[in-house]
Amino acid sequence: MKLLLAYASRKGSTRDTIEKMGERLTDKGFEITVTDCDEVHDVSDYDGIIIGSGIYKGMWLPAAETFLRRFSEALGTTPLAAFILCIRILEPDGREHVMTEYMPMHLLEKLNVISLEAFAGQLIASEIEWHERWTLTIRYDGAVDPNQTFDEDYRRWDKIYAWVDEIAEKFREA
Ligand SMILES: Cc1cc2nc3c(=O)[nH]c(=O)nc-3n(C[C@H](O)[C@H](O)[C@H](O)COP(=O)(O)O)c2cc1C
Repeated sequence: MKLLLAYASRKGSTRDTIEKMGERLTDKGFEITVTDCDEVHDVSDYDGIIIGSGIYKGMWLPAAETFLRRFSEALGTTPLAAFILCIRILEPDGREHVMTEYMPMHLLEKLNVISLEAFAGQLIASEIEWHERWTLTIRYDGAVDPNQTFDEDYRRWDKIYAWVDEIAEKFREA
């Protein structure tokens, strides 16, 4: 079974996450292609898609949304699993908030989405430029100041791999 794993990532945590997902799925016998959303020209060769995006200003990165738009018709009923990495999920109402506010449902609802998930990402203060710091301060929609609050790799690999195992089964069933 051939899967395309496409990512949109600015700081690298989503790319790194999807690469590790790919390794796990390879071990499970899937044939995996991992690529930047911008580099995808054709999706017809795949039995399933995983798309992952980092969240910036409360939205998917443009490359990931463009991927959904560009291939909406070509994907047809191809099963698609989607995930985001973000930090808002770390706040008390986080999961509910990001699942309702951060997902481009107008694009996703046209596709055969078999799973939609959100994970805590990575925010390393020393890797953030001054203008990004400013963006975070004014555009972040949580209760805390993210620049003062988050400075870590928050990815929980047990949760991420549990999701991979779950969608592997769903791809096989689909
Ligand atoms: C400039 C900037 C804006 C961000 N905006 C948000 C946001 O609005 N909500 C959120 O939950 N996380 C936000 N984040 C956190 C990122 O989603 C998180 O760091 C993610 O892991 C980044 O993915 P990437 O490393 O693949 O680019 C922001 C991070 C930066 C640097």
